[in-house]
Amino acid sequence: MAGGFSVSASAGSQFEAKITPVVIISCLMAATGGLMFGYDVGGVTSMDDFLIKFFPKVYRRKTESKDSNYCKYDNQGLQLFTSSLYLAGLTATFFASYTTRNLGRKHTMLIAGIFFLVGVILNGAAQDLPMLIIGRILLGCGVGFANQAVPLFLSEIAPTRIRGGLNILFQLNVTIGILFANLVNYGTSKIHPWGWRLSLSLAGVPALLLTVGALFVVDTPNSLIERGRLEEGKAVLKKIRGTDNVEPEFNEILEASRVAHQVKHPFRNLLKRRNRPQLVIAILLQIFQQFTGINAIMFYAPVLFNTLGFKSDASLYSAVITGAVNVLSTVVSIYSVDRVGRRILLLEAGVQMFISQVVIAIVLGIKVTDHSENLSHGYAIFVVVMVCTFVSSFAWSWGPLGWLIPSETFPMETRSAGQSVTVCVNLLFTFVIAQAFLSMLCHLKYGIFAFFSGWVVVMSVFVLFFLPETKNVPIEEMTEKVWKQHWFWKRFMGDDDRVVDGDDKNNTQP
Ligand code: BGC
Repeated sequence: MAGGFSVSASAGSQFEAKITPVVIISCLMAATGGLMFGYDVGGVTSMDDFLIKFFPKVYRRKTESKDSNYCKYDNQGLQLFTSSLYLAGLTATFFASYTTRNLGRKHTMLIAGIFFLVGVILNGAAQDLPMLIIGRILLGCGVGFANQAVPLFLSEIAPTRIRGGLNILFQLNVTIGILFANLVNYGTSKIHPWGWRLSLSLAGVPALLLTVGALFVVDTPNSLIERGRLEEGKAVLKKIRGTDNVEPEFNEILEASRVAHQVKHPFRNLLKRRNRPQLVIAILLQIFQQFTGINAIMFYAPVLFNTLGFKSDASLYSAVITGAVNVLSTVVSIYSVDRVGRRILLLEAGVQMFISQVVIAIVLGIKVTDHSENLSHGYAIFVVVMVCTFVSSFAWSWGPLGWLIPSETFPMETRSAGQSVTVCVNLLFTFVIAQAFLSMLCHLKYGIFAFFSGWVVVMSVFVLFFLPETKNVPIEEMTEKVWKQHWFWKRFMGDDDRVVDGDDKNNTQP
């Protein structure tokens, strides 16, 4: 099967492409860039030894437990530890935009790997809060570079017909990273007093995987051609597509790169009217992805389950369950994204997420009071089940598609800049949620789930009317086949084909 499967013209692509081992292996290696992102989401923040060393105030409050159930962990310093990674990442991605464009996808992944390695060393060896935070900032830079390069790499190197599935390998690694972190934290929380150190150091495993992987992968033909390495680009194209008949695809990439070269200011170009649809969608998808409330669950699953009255162990256990559901449901997405398409997945998930959140809000509203000891066993299990149905629907929709869609809809001339806006907005809103969640939980209580469910309605309506389907459309043909055909967005496209920087009229070719 592998190697012998051609993409047919009726599937929406006219290019001959086999699913070659080199494509699969390259994608598997590059996708490990998601592991680190995921691993950093899982937290050491509920480990007592960690709190005693770095956040003694939080520890005291937790043990004295005079606070309301919903307010135990509300501490800006602790939230800043979680958040510093995202602030660093969202800044770093603008530098990464430059490197993905000028040095290529491969080298940008390598830079990410090196940031990760140094960050892990500082974190594992941390003696005080500044060292801990600096390490975390370096990890954040790694996330900025990796999340910039990996989704682009995957979307460009994949044959059109399985582009969605291969791109989602990134998100699959994100979810494996989260699960791995949950498992490691479950184990290391029993090792006193340095379990947290082991937990932070084990991030070295995914860091090493990405660094080594980046050394071995070939760069994408699109990036090689964009950087003027035409022969090499063509050779790579032949190798990854498993055929010598690559002329049509090569010419299409060449044309895209000709247009790309006329663009002197990628970010300014991004603001042009004809790039509005992709830009608006990329930005909104990130905001929506974070306003599903997923990270409220992911970052603070242990904290949340503690709040619900689970004992410390049981809460990590529950976090492991949600982690496993997250991984398995992402596989569902890999299988179905190029079959049923992006829109169906998002719309189905909207309904499922809405119901789960409303039910959670109702149960907590009725059963958890500010100072009650425990949620009864039965209700606690019920809440975990609802959290799982929520996580599973996120995992086959907004999780992967928030990364897939922006990476595949921009034309080459704005792809790097577009992706960095994507990463920036994603991390910005991840930060906002991380920073606000514990305070929101403390003030809104169970209402926090009702808050997120309202957002789910808004995003689903947006998808219904404004998000075009991109399955089976070759990556360099999105403008013609998607944006110029869409009932709403076509008005932004004009007839001027692809005009470049307004201030660079001499470069505009007929
Ligand atoms: C999101 C992360 C989230 C993760 C959960 C990713 O797609 O960008 O913010 O933690 O999914 O699986």
